[in-house]
Amino acid sequence: MSTIPQSVIVAPSGPFRGELEVAGDKSISHRIAMLAGLASGTSTISNFLQSEDCVNTLRAMEALGARSYFDEDGLLHVQGTGGNLMEPAGALNVGNSGTTIRLLSGILAGQPGTFEITGDDSLCTRPMGRIKDPLERMGAKVEVTGERGTAPIRITGGKLKGIDYLLPIASAQVKSCVLLAGLFAEGVTSITEPVPTRDHTERVFKMLDLPLTVNGSQISLKGFGGEGPRLKARSFAVPGDFSSAAYWMVAAAARKGSDVTIRNVGLNPRRMALIDVLKRAGAQVDVRLDSSSIDGEPVGEVHVLGGKLKAVAVKGAEIANLIDELLLVAVLGCLADGVTRIENAAELRVKESDRIATAVANMRLMGVEVEEFPDGMAIKGPAVLKPTGALRTYGDHRNAMAMSVLASYAREQTVINNVSCVDTSYPNFWSDFKSLGGNVE
Ligand code: S3P
Repeated sequence: MSTIPQSVIVAPSGPFRGELEVAGDKSISHRIAMLAGLASGTSTISNFLQSEDCVNTLRAMEALGARSYFDEDGLLHVQGTGGNLMEPAGALNVGNSGTTIRLLSGILAGQPGTFEITGDDSLCTRPMGRIKDPLERMGAKVEVTGERGTAPIRITGGKLKGIDYLLPIASAQVKSCVLLAGLFAEGVTSITEPVPTRDHTERVFKMLDLPLTVNGSQISLKGFGGEGPRLKARSFAVPGDFSSAAYWMVAAAARKGSDVTIRNVGLNPRRMALIDVLKRAGAQVDVRLDSSSIDGEPVGEVHVLGGKLKAVAVKGAEIANLIDELLLVAVLGCLADGVTRIENAAELRVKESDRIATAVANMRLMGVEVEEFPDGMAIKGPAVLKPTGALRTYGDHRNAMAMSVLASYAREQTVINNVSCVDTSYPNFWSDFKSLGGNVE
């Protein structure tokens, strides 16, 4: 893992130029680590994201009986449990990772025994009622032991039955939790989504020949009962993370003379709404799909040329496919001409930080005129970016990275404190930032 500084100074920078490959997709890495941990035999995983969040999933699977290591070429080897998970001695600590706690809870709901999952201060502010409800309907006992329905969580697993579940919120984490529990249920589990969310779980299940069908907004899975799916080890590959590549798209898009290409990046249609947003803003973006996909996930290349941008509005169904890029839409709002509006995005308030409040606070420190709504914000651009104090990340990796991109467009240097959190999802962020032309020390 890289050594990440506590604070950085980002200086104004010229055009961003160059080509790079970003590290493996975080969502896909989590799912593969869990499924390889359930399989019998040793799986190999190439381009697994070696970030804190994903390593926390590996550690949790190890505490449940799996074994894993990275070889000298960075290939991850996971010796699975064959589905026989052991009850760990104490609570599983999954750090900052909402994906780990929610997806792993689905698996543990179908195992005999009692399991506790906890994490860092941020994770302990994140709502868990959203997984308690469906898992209890399936037959598990789920105690949410944090204040206000937040982590930690204690699960007493057991015999599960399939349910018909209408997801009350657009959340791939909740959908995936229920699907993973559904593997251990008797009968069929059906989930209906209010709007489409990222479908990495469905894709990896299909790739593993698990009996999953998708019919419009309804996903159905035939369960295997308490024995589980008896998965066999295999080799997996992880495409580059679109959400990591997104920082460079925005770093290039609003700066004349920029020319950035990101190769081998995941191009799952449910992750790519930022491309549409950039195009609506008038950016010059080209996407080229590779002829073959990687383990059921489309991949390819994104090319961005910089120029003048105009304000856009993002809302409705688009939000779910843009959820981890909304801070970057706010950054675009500071740079584009007109008022950029983000609406229907209240979920941002329950991410690694309250991303509406934290983004608004940081943008105001940069001199941006921004209005805050319960479910979004309106940003007046283009702003003259002049920091009036050090920006704060609130321990949220995506704040640290989005604010660094914003700061690169400022007229003066910007201090950003507490940036070690970038290691959560993108340990090579600073070296990639510098390699494309960013000024940071
Ligand atoms: C994720 C889904 C999203 C996203 C998170 C990762 C996943 O969360 O914000 O970073 O891996 O399924 P929600 O589905 O809760 O919105």
